[in-house]
Amino acid sequence: MPDKQKSSDKPVKRKSSDLKRRMRDALKGGGSKAIEKQKAIGKLTARERIIAILDPKTFYEYDLFVEHAAKDFDMNKKYLPGDGVITGTGILSGHPVCIYAQDFTIAGGSLGYMHAKKITKIMDHAMKLKVPLIGINDSGGARIQEGVNSLAGYGEIFYRNTQASGVIPQISVILGPCAGGAVYSPALTDFVFVVDKISKMFITGPEVIKTVLGEEISMEELGGALVHSEITGNAHFYAESEQECFDQIKQLISFIPWSNKKKADSFPKKAPKSKKYKIDSVIPTDPRQPYDIRDVIKAVCDDSELMEIQERFAPNIVIGFARLGGETVGFVANQPLYLAGVLDVDSSDKAARFIRYCDAFSIPLVTFVDLPGYLPGVDQEHAGVIRHGAKLLYAYSEATVPKITLILRKAYGGGYIAMCSHHLKADFVFAWPSAEIAVMGPEGAANIIFRKEIQSAENPDEVRKQKVAEYKKKYANPYVAAAYGYIDAVIEPSETRNILIHALEISSEKTEVTPDKKHGIPPF
Ligand code: HXC
Repeated sequence: MPDKQKSSDKPVKRKSSDLKRRMRDALKGGGSKAIEKQKAIGKLTARERIIAILDPKTFYEYDLFVEHAAKDFDMNKKYLPGDGVITGTGILSGHPVCIYAQDFTIAGGSLGYMHAKKITKIMDHAMKLKVPLIGINDSGGARIQEGVNSLAGYGEIFYRNTQASGVIPQISVILGPCAGGAVYSPALTDFVFVVDKISKMFITGPEVIKTVLGEEISMEELGGALVHSEITGNAHFYAESEQECFDQIKQLISFIPWSNKKKADSFPKKAPKSKKYKIDSVIPTDPRQPYDIRDVIKAVCDDSELMEIQERFAPNIVIGFARLGGETVGFVANQPLYLAGVLDVDSSDKAARFIRYCDAFSIPLVTFVDLPGYLPGVDQEHAGVIRHGAKLLYAYSEATVPKITLILRKAYGGGYIAMCSHHLKADFVFAWPSAEIAVMGPEGAANIIFRKEIQSAENPDEVRKQKVAEYKKKYANPYVAAAYGYIDAVIEPSETRNILIHALEISSEKTEVTPDKKHGIPPF
């Protein structure tokens, strides 16, 4: 029998060397020249990126031998390994994920029919397995030679992004140009990561803009990483290098649940860094003085670790993940350092989307309030502050996760209601003794309600001062609201962490019955 075995080894060996050859060819990507070009601008290859993100030696690739199906424009003569996209599964921080990376060295990472099929197949896996999906985008958009088949491919991806929204986390990493249809899949996902000088996102590039409008602009100025981090708000995380970006992904993934049916990982409780962040002295005694609300969050959360989202966009509101007592929470907080923390079009959009994310993935919300209200002005009115501001009201009202609110200082007008007041069904609303809850600030209020008295007084300035002081005494405190039960407890700043953790613990089994409807119609 040994002889027989030996002779049957031959075809197996031949077959396995054939596999090796095929793999070698496919793994060459777009070839050494194209790879060198990418490296010269600080980019890793598509496979290197996947390996750098995942836990060591956990990546398994599928569909390596998929080939494009195009015939026109001499495409039938072209070999595009794996059709320019790498797909597979792996382990990230001990949990399974589905992942894909477009390979710019192969036809510019452009999306043809089979390329799209590979992506939709891995998306379907992610949905069936209920694991996060990570997409690394580096693409010139729809493969022009494949016409409507590339457009069809995008449509299939967008549909799946939408179906997966709120079911599994979807993370987009932009690591190169992301042009045309390529931008819309990231825009439909939960978190978009960009890297300085490497990421570029636009619907129509500089060439088209020049031809159609005669305007000249560089790719960087049109849709570089900073543009999308600061101006458009399309990007949620900004990094200086690819490695920093991968570290951010790992940090994010440690905070979020792996599907809407799972809870985020629990961590051991860690006290805040009390030497650096002192809760009693963060807020200035002068109510008009700004301060950094992130210092308050860091003074109460575990290990003072706040993972801020959209840090550079609409900085008048801070959103991000942190832990309280070892469990993930989503923080939403007005930032008095910028525009006194007012709500405007962008900050309302930013917060509303985050609230819906937390609600979809059962992450409790903690809201810190210190704002003079919505930003007045023609620009804001004409930019649709009514519609955009309403998104915040909608998102908070709709959310059924535990909602805990703390009013630190000002809570005026619409801002008081919108920032998760009891009226939008916060579970607990606490206030510091420094809280001022009123329709507007004392100066504005006194000028309106005592106008006649002030105008007819012999010394209007003196009377105005008196009336402001009178209004302040009556309303610039938390006790009127507390008298109506709109505030559950007025607490000392030093009690904040303990009471928040307690409120979260007792709300952990919260259930809320919502009206029977297919879905609401938020003011998108
Ligand atoms: C086919 C493409 C391609 C595309 C790039 N390539 N984009 N092939 N379809 N969409 C190919 C190039 O021909 C080239 O092939 C290789 O990729 C590298 O491209 P370069 O131009 O040499 O690279 P670079 O100078 O870095 O410029 C990258 C780029 C540029 C900015 C992305 O290629 C570009 O502007 N591409 C077109 C972008 C675009 O307009 N896309 C929109 C498509 S329409 P060789 O063989 O020379 O190496 C669309 C609509 C969908 O997406 C709508 C859905 C809602």
